[in-house]
Amino acid sequence: MSVPADTVSLYDYERHFTARVDAATRAYIAGTGADGITRQANRDAYDRMRLMPRALRDLSGASAATSLFGQAMPYPILIAPMAFHRLVHRDGERATAQAAGLTGTWMTVSTQSSVTLEEVAAVAGGPLWFQLYTQPRPEDTLALVRRAEAAGYRALVLTVDAPVSGLRNIEQRAGFRLPDGIAPVNLAGLAPDSFTPPRPGSPVFQGMLHAAATWDTVRWLCAETRLPVLLKGIMNPDDVDPAIEAGAAGIIVSNHGGRTLDTLPAVAEVLPLVAARAAGRLPILADGGIRRGTDILKALALGADAVLVGQPVLHALAVGGMAGVAHMLTILQTELEVAMALSGRARLADIDRSVIFDPPRI
Ligand code: FNR
Ligand code: LAC
Repeated sequence: MSVPADTVSLYDYERHFTARVDAATRAYIAGTGADGITRQANRDAYDRMRLMPRALRDLSGASAATSLFGQAMPYPILIAPMAFHRLVHRDGERATAQAAGLTGTWMTVSTQSSVTLEEVAAVAGGPLWFQLYTQPRPEDTLALVRRAEAAGYRALVLTVDAPVSGLRNIEQRAGFRLPDGIAPVNLAGLAPDSFTPPRPGSPVFQGMLHAAATWDTVRWLCAETRLPVLLKGIMNPDDVDPAIEAGAAGIIVSNHGGRTLDTLPAVAEVLPLVAARAAGRLPILADGGIRRGTDILKALALGADAVLVGQPVLHALAVGGMAGVAHMLTILQTELEVAMALSGRARLADIDRSVIFDPPRI
């Protein structure tokens, strides 16, 4: 496995991934909800925004370092939770976690990881967060929480935007199935998610929703654990106060990369609304469509404290294994530094709405 020499941006990793990975796996990884309108909107929103630089500022001692929950991090970049890294590399999440450790990037491990959360923790060189999908039986959800605590995970990320799967038409057309030997191994032995509705009716409303979290679940979870609990998939500013009241320690503004409800707005469109409502009461993170250092600069300008990257991690893992992921993350870090330097912002605290060009109406 080698990274071609012309791989200099995250889009290059995507290009090589597309050439090397089979169509069905690609359909799962790049698959969107329905028509992919939200996924495209995530990108379009960042691409449409123009930056407004300040000239001749003193950049000595510049740094992209920050901290979250009292812990320092060198860059405001984390790895988003994604299922089944072994789809693209035999070491799966183990390789991703090692790359994260090498580059000072925090990694969020999915409930649906293809390597157990303990095995990932055993090789990780840096902080890990655990993404939680609530299970049909609360005791199974709690068992996952206790395992994450015991393995040294630093935070829980409760995903709140996927009570049922989105309409994955791209995946369906491609006939994607999990290959033999790849499974959600953390869930082995837990009550299966498949559930026979007790009476005839909608398989959606009477089937999968029985495991879905509610605000009561958030309150319960926050009372059960001492780890910070972040809610991932908040889009509406009206959900900020309930999140704080329920005990959430952070919010991840996310539309699941466009994989759940299609035609949701772009993350960049709602991020400033959510951040304004939070008004510094808890950290706001964002994911969806981050592909360039300038995207990170824009997300921070719109009110994010840090961002998460999803698909580029799997692209780089497929193309170059651990070294590929480490290289990809380094590219992103360097691009953020270049964007800060060229826009005249020496520190994250200097990045505010003034970085984004507000064109005069002419
Ligand atoms: C995801 N995502 C996701 N989110 C989550 O909370 N739990 C999960 O298990 C998964 N699984 C998953 C698998 C794959 C293949 C992808 C691409 C995504 C969503 C993910 O955390 C994140 O919200 C988006 O991927 C961010 O958008 P970008 O960076 O991929 O554009
Ligand atoms: C997905 C689920 C696993 O996005 O969250 O594929």
